[in-house]
Amino acid sequence: MREEMSDVFIHPASIVETREIGAGTRIWALAHVMPDASIGVNCNIGEHCFIESGAKIGDNVTIKNGNMVWNGVVLEDGVFVGPHVSFTNDRFPRSPRLAQAKKRYGGHSWLVATRVKEGASLGAGAVVIAGVTVGEYALVGAGAVVTKDVVPYALVTGNPARRRGWVCQCGLPLKFDGPTTRCADCGLRYRRDGESVRLLAEKPTRRTAVFLSANRANLR
Ligand SMILES: CC(C)(COP(=O)(O)OP(=O)(O)OC[C@H]1O[C@@H](n2cnc3c(N)ncnc32)[C@H](O)[C@@H]1OP(=O)(O)O)[C@@H](O)C(=O)NCCC(=O)NCCS
Ligand SMILES: [Zn+2]
Repeated sequence: MREEMSDVFIHPASIVETREIGAGTRIWALAHVMPDASIGVNCNIGEHCFIESGAKIGDNVTIKNGNMVWNGVVLEDGVFVGPHVSFTNDRFPRSPRLAQAKKRYGGHSWLVATRVKEGASLGAGAVVIAGVTVGEYALVGAGAVVTKDVVPYALVTGNPARRRGWVCQCGLPLKFDGPTTRCADCGLRYRRDGESVRLLAEKPTRRTAVFLSANRANLR
């Protein structure tokens, strides 16, 4: 199986049972990836990770050491998972072997999905309660317990996690003195409207910049 996946690095001391791994992805020692887990391209799965069947991991995702990614967890493209984050997939857990709970665990109605959206980061030791969506490019502080959805670009900390700031797509804090701001580091611009922040305009790529200046020249 390992030989059939080209451009994938799988440490010889890991157990990888899925074939759904994208090119350029690296899986380090003592990780275990179960059948039917899917992992996109160019990901890094650290030592001692367990990726359960049904977990879905996008492209360019970084999962630091010691993470358990359960069935029902979706990590979109570019997500960062710090060391020892706890995902959950059952809001009212019982042992399925407990006689009183056996019936409830006969199907999959107990299974509750969690979604971490594009570019978001989860700090070390954060706990993400099942059913939550962490919005695009949000940042969850170390040790936070996320009990509710996190809006895009929010920085949340604490137990229960509360918003205490905003962050840029590059990860650094955003300061709003008025309705709009620009990241001091990367230059991306944002508008804030109450509890929502959105990107105003992409920085022009070199290509668009050349195109725009050529057009401007034509107008002269
Ligand atoms: C949340 C975080 C981004 C805040 O960084 P910051 O903006 O520089 O914050 P500061 O250090 O200035 O702290 C501001 C306040 O928040 C508190 N604070 C900082 N991080 C906190 C956290 N994770 N949980 C709770 N409170 C936190 C500080 O104690 C301080 O409180 P005070 O104002 O009462 O003194 C950062 O602390 C964090 O947790 N980053 C994630 C690190 C991580 O897990 N990396 C994983 C890769 S190894
Ligand atoms: Zn930035």
